[in-house]
Amino acid sequence: MKKIAVFASGSGSNFQAINDAINEKSLDAEISLLVCDKPGAYVIERAEEAGVEYFTFFPKQYETKVEFETEILKQLKARDIEFIVLAGYMRLIGCTLLAEYDGRIVNIHPSLLPAFPGKDAIGQALEAQAGVSGVTVHYVDSGMDTGPIIAQKAVMIKKEDTRETLQQRIQKVEHELYPRVLQDLFNQEKVGGVQS
Ligand code: GRF
Repeated sequence: MKKIAVFASGSGSNFQAINDAINEKSLDAEISLLVCDKPGAYVIERAEEAGVEYFTFFPKQYETKVEFETEILKQLKARDIEFIVLAGYMRLIGCTLLAEYDGRIVNIHPSLLPAFPGKDAIGQALEAQAGVSGVTVHYVDSGMDTGPIIAQKAVMIKKEDTRETLQQRIQKVEHELYPRVLQDLFNQEKVGGVQS
């Protein structure tokens, strides 16, 4: 069983989908820690409900990213975390975590990367009047949504779509895709396979 940490900043519907997949035994993992940089975020309630430990912090209380990532690293090591799963964590991962977990950090992004990286990918797709967007799971490097792509799934954009309706369909795909891709990655690691 893989010991993972989920990093999130918001509602945590992907945290929930991963936890549900674990409970349903379709994902052989344990969320040993939630890391959250927004102490009031709804994902913390989800963690409490699920009985998952969390580490939450105000980034502004630290002078530098190195300082708060050093604290995060301490929390990860104390729990022997093997893998980091970003699920709506709204900041770039810095050199402290990358050095320790390179090739073992993944992210989910609501577009078909490299299209629409960064913030508000759904708004960007609507603004561009794109006919299709989707979901990407990728390894994390020091850039903004630039790491090697692991899996993608398209979502068609309808003329009548609003941000809400498109987000709903994209998130439905995320919740199915992310746990499945994680299980595939963990299976491949068992037989000595993939790396970034
Ligand atoms: C998701 O759409 C994910 O792709 C993006 O942030 C959003 C997080 O949603 N990185 P939630 O907090 O998991 O509901």
